[in-house]
Amino acid sequence: IRRIKIIDVLKREDYGSEVNVKGWVRTRRGSKSVHFIALNDGSTINNVQIVADADKFDDELIKLITTGACLSVTGELVQSVGSGQAVEIRAREIEVLGTCGSDYPMQKKGQSMEYMRTHAHMRLRTNTFGAVFRIRHNMAMAVHRYFHEHGFFYFHTPIITASDCEGAGQMFQVTTKNLYDLKKDDEGKIDYSDDFFGKTTSLTVSGQLEGELGATALGAIYTFGPTFRAENSNTPRHLAEFWMIEPEVAFNDIHDNMDLAEDFIKYCVRWALEHCQDDLAFLNKMIDKTLLERLNFVVENDFVRLPYTKGIEILEEAVKNGRKFEFPIYWGADLASEHERYLVEEYFKRPVILTDYPKEIKAFYMKMNDDGKTVRAMDVLFPQIGEIIGGSEREENYDKLMARIEELNIPMKDMWWYLDTRRFGTCPHSGFGLGFERLILFVTGMQNIRDVIPFPRTPKNAEF
Ligand code: 4AD
Ligand code: MG
Repeated sequence: IRRIKIIDVLKREDYGSEVNVKGWVRTRRGSKSVHFIALNDGSTINNVQIVADADKFDDELIKLITTGACLSVTGELVQSVGSGQAVEIRAREIEVLGTCGSDYPMQKKGQSMEYMRTHAHMRLRTNTFGAVFRIRHNMAMAVHRYFHEHGFFYFHTPIITASDCEGAGQMFQVTTKNLYDLKKDDEGKIDYSDDFFGKTTSLTVSGQLEGELGATALGAIYTFGPTFRAENSNTPRHLAEFWMIEPEVAFNDIHDNMDLAEDFIKYCVRWALEHCQDDLAFLNKMIDKTLLERLNFVVENDFVRLPYTKGIEILEEAVKNGRKFEFPIYWGADLASEHERYLVEEYFKRPVILTDYPKEIKAFYMKMNDDGKTVRAMDVLFPQIGEIIGGSEREENYDKLMARIEELNIPMKDMWWYLDTRRFGTCPHSGFGLGFERLILFVTGMQNIRDVIPFPRTPKNAEF
């Protein structure tokens, strides 16, 4: 008889039929006469209760049914009286597919996130991480559905590149050197430069520049792929490898770009509310009691749109009134996470799109405003998270873009292909990047970005 996923078995009402389920034991409890086993197969946060009469099963077999063990259970579907679920399975046959010893690291309930991070390969089996990664999958679906429904094309940009989109020099270099030769060199005389078959290349920090080529040909594209930043920052918001979604649209100005960002995020959050109800209810109960309230609030309310200059005024006013910040605030300063969160969580109490930043703290490709000081940048700031999106209207004028490139000393020889978009039929266009893990942080209520990606890459963690 064919296995049924637990998510499906829990919906059935054909009591009396025989079913087979397979999964991992969450708990076993019982008395002399009957054992209750909570079984989970990852298809849902919910367990199915297995009822095993003690006189039908060997003591030796029951002893193997420990937390973490893998079982195949065949039995009768019966209406449940007390398990919190409508159905349970009265076992006729239990096969232990894989035993699990008492050294199973995910045995105890309520272990700390730090501990679970040191066992990232096994934490996937817990309720919390099951919920997080089912939601992560659903968010990826929402991203693709949103853009597909809105006529965007999924555009694949390279991971190995020669250009530094953000100009921050935070790139991991690619080498073709033989790994084992490198390890053999004990004199430390390894030449890392000039390495991709004679060229210097790195892992991409953003697909935007190639995305602009896509947008100025196909009209509207989005990328969704891994992105790398060699920044040595150990914060709960930064990873060395993260996933980014970057829509880019021809003929959109900064206002269209803001409309798109707001509509897109709301769609994703609404998707979670509609498609991840059980997992969200679990996280709302166990991780963050205000989660559902916050998600509903974001869907139902407009984001604030505010120029950077006004934002600085509000922050300076707060300092005047005695609000303490770790980092100084003045016009021209890059906002720290504490400043962003003040605006979002304390002052406006809703998401804020901050626009028109000083050109000095933003990337070379952003369109200059008429004041000659600020650029048409937009950062979307979120409660609990800080910056969730960064984007801008792009400088489409060849001469102005070149002037900026020269001002910033960006190596020109690497940029000719990008500049061709401005030489041949240039057009206004805009786009942004959403950090996928930051979206997952917001939607799950988890506190640390390392806990919303299965295998986090940070300066201290690249082992598994
Ligand atoms: O603000 P960023 O650096 O913007 C860009 O890369 C642009 N090229 C995007 C564009 O306009 N197409 O990054 C965009 C977003 C941030 O708002 C943040 O959510 C996320 O990417 N992000 C990170 N997420 C996790 N770890 C890191 N180290 C991140 N750096 C940026
Ligand atoms: Mg940014």
